Amino acid sequence: MYWSVWLCVVSLFIASITHWVYKWRNPKCNGKLPPGSMGFPIIGETIQFFIPSKSLDVSSFIKKRMKKYGPLFCTNLAGRPVVVSSDPDFNYYIFQQEGKLVELWYMDSIAKLVGLDTSQSIAATGYVHKYLRNLALAHFGTEALKGRLLSKAEDMIRTRLHDWTKLPALEFKSCVSSMIDDMKKEKFLSDDFVVFVMFGILFASFETISSTLTLAIKLLIEHPLVMQQLIEEHEAILKNREDPNSGISWKEYKSMTFTHQVINEVLRLGSVAPGILRRAIKDIQVNGYTIPSGWTIMVVPAALQLNPDTFVDPLTFNPWRWKDMGVGVVAKNFIPFGGGSRLCIGAEFAKVLMTTFFHVLVTNYRLTKIKGGQIARSPVLTFGNGLHINISKKHG
Ligand code: HEM
Repeated sequence: MYWSVWLCVVSLFIASITHWVYKWRNPKCNGKLPPGSMGFPIIGETIQFFIPSKSLDVSSFIKKRMKKYGPLFCTNLAGRPVVVSSDPDFNYYIFQQEGKLVELWYMDSIAKLVGLDTSQSIAATGYVHKYLRNLALAHFGTEALKGRLLSKAEDMIRTRLHDWTKLPALEFKSCVSSMIDDMKKEKFLSDDFVVFVMFGILFASFETISSTLTLAIKLLIEHPLVMQQLIEEHEAILKNREDPNSGISWKEYKSMTFTHQVINEVLRLGSVAPGILRRAIKDIQVNGYTIPSGWTIMVVPAALQLNPDTFVDPLTFNPWRWKDMGVGVVAKNFIPFGGGSRLCIGAEFAKVLMTTFFHVLVTNYRLTKIKGGQIARSPVLTFGNGLHINISKKHG
């Protein structure tokens, strides 16, 4: 009697565990799920996802699965069922579906922060989003940049670079981060900048600029021909400037064609946003598969930007490739700043800051690498123990 009760309990336990594992591995779906594996119960494939790789290339987690399953595959990361996409057409479509088929995945936390009930409609969140976006664009957008940010950025960069020459060696990324940090303290933008600092910290971070700029400096040091052409472009601008004491004008900024190509190439290789996340708010049909409502969709910019079918020899730093790049190719395959109604509001700001940095740097200073700069993706782009460089004045 005792044994049969015990056997019954054990069998029930095994049956429920098996059922649980089966349900984990075969999630409910009103159709056919994209191929893939949900990994182990609870942890899914989270550990494999975070294994660092020592290259700029797409992480081996994504690469292996893209090869095995195709451009859309399902997995489970950090306890959430996820569909990972490297399909340019689907990504483009998803970016246009904000509020209709998808929403930002961290929407709940934003809603809580701004005091909304998370069960409220998308329209309310959409309204808050529109408001914050317009507010932020007024401070970081093109008009603000043309008006005063460009000259403020130039002044600040001149001061910082001058200070940095006094150091025998500096860790570039932390110096750039502290420069960007100072923009907040010194009321670089305006009195109510604090609002945007909060907004920026929540939605995107200045970390993105410092990583991109650090990668740019590393690549420029390693590619003297690119550096030479960059110097020539900026020296020509100085030569043609009517008033040698004036700063960079908006017209000059717009004319820096090669610099823009260098920045695009660094953004492409850097793919600093490892994944752009959305949550399906309805079942989504794609290529005969169904993505169930509630699932996360992860768009992986690196998978597009390092695709050899689109970018020949994708891991080579070749700014000249941008000379003949078709608009159609760029629209769907180059998404460092996301897309659709969530397109990064700091995109132009980031480009102006980097361009101004290059202008002041290459016309006045010389760079020497001291040590470091080892790339890793974990999956965020990092630089091992940092990139240590020396900056010295060119003339005198
Ligand atoms: C190289 C630098 C940068 C990169 C690569 C970058 C990348 C991105 C990406 C991929 C998104 C889309 C996120 C999504 O769709 O979920 C985004 C959104 C955003 N970024 Fe940036 N970003 C950069 C710099 C900045 C800067 C400097 C600011 C602030 C001035 C900023 C503010 C924002 C904001 C507020 C959003 C959210 C926009 C919205 O939801 O409407 N970003 N960024």
